[in-house]
Amino acid sequence: DEIYLNGLGGVVPALPMTYAELEARAQAALPPSVLSYVAGGAGDERTQNANVTAFERWGLIPRMFVGAAERDLSVELFGMTLPSPLFMAPIGVLGLCGQDGHGDLATARAAARTGVPMIASTLSADPMESVAAEFGDTPGFFQLYTPTDRALAESLVRRAEKSGFKAIVVTMDTWITGWRPRDLSTSNFPQLRGHCLANYISDPVFRAHLPADPEQDMRSAVLTWVRLFGNPLTWDDLPWLRSLTTLPLIVKGLCHPEDVRRARDGGVDGVYCSNHGGRQANGGLPALDMLPEVVEAADGLPVLFDSGVRSGADIVKAIALGASAVGVGRPYAYGLGIGGADGVTHVLRSLLAEADLLMAVDGYPTLADLTPEALRRVL
Ligand code: FNR
Repeated sequence: DEIYLNGLGGVVPALPMTYAELEARAQAALPPSVLSYVAGGAGDERTQNANVTAFERWGLIPRMFVGAAERDLSVELFGMTLPSPLFMAPIGVLGLCGQDGHGDLATARAAARTGVPMIASTLSADPMESVAAEFGDTPGFFQLYTPTDRALAESLVRRAEKSGFKAIVVTMDTWITGWRPRDLSTSNFPQLRGHCLANYISDPVFRAHLPADPEQDMRSAVLTWVRLFGNPLTWDDLPWLRSLTTLPLIVKGLCHPEDVRRARDGGVDGVYCSNHGGRQANGGLPALDMLPEVVEAADGLPVLFDSGVRSGADIVKAIALGASAVGVGRPYAYGLGIGGADGVTHVLRSLLAEADLLMAVDGYPTLADLTPEALRRVL
């Protein structure tokens, strides 16, 4: 209504109303190396693109005489009530997308305004304590990359708990960076890495690894971080991971039902079905295609989902396929790039408005009404 009424007064929305325009505006706004980092993916990006087109293979069947005048998009997750199932997936190096270098803080402010939780990446330009301070009443989740040094992982989790984060999301699919031709051709990584080390540089365990004062010597901080970055965990490590926190523990990057069963048996509180937006491995299935099997294997455990969500309709379809909550990555990074906290807020509100209107028009007033029977496979 707000947008139509503005239109009556001749006011054209300042921020994009389509995903294509959002992407085009971000392309124009972001420096080429930052854009290639955000927009790019693994290999020739077939999996990344397939994540998006996978949604076209499902169609929602409209239901009439439902009287869906009131909708309820709220969801219970890990003992919290969230206003909607939408969340912001963790994005590292967000600082480069925010016009003032503090993209993490701007994103956290958008979370506060919209009630859409942000999963704050380990790789941030501001320490997690400052990011968490911007969340207002919206719960925030902390994403952990498990370093080779277990004490460092523990320290990061203790800090997240103290800062008031409400869950820990451990990313399993990125202990090593995938083959990303766009980044490789712009030699992006060293430039980007310096902008994402605030959580490390502010950490006493990390600092103990440093040869010199990192404020004076970013190079030694980057080299130390590269040395400690990724730990390819095995199932033997799951008890340790579980023991890290009493907060809800969610493992990100699970697509195989057998992995989901083992994670559930290992005591995790939720699984996160994702292929990292196609950034890590090329040649795989779209994450959406694995969602129904993941949901079945999760056997009632909450399932978070991301990879390829670009519209409110995509959110609705992922919920109908069994996701408990649905994340976006690039869409909000683009919003940040073109409009800071206002841009992120606009992207999130537009996604939610579209999902809400679709549920109204098609007669699915609550998330519980969205079941696999609401969909038909169209191709
Ligand atoms: C990511 N993603 C990510 N995931 C994670 O667990 N920790 C991280 O630091 C990052 N960093 C990151 C940077 C950028 C620029 C992007 C685009 C993505 C993956 C992210 O959480 C999510 O899985 C995907 O972005 C979802 O796919 P879409 O929505 O981008 O298609």
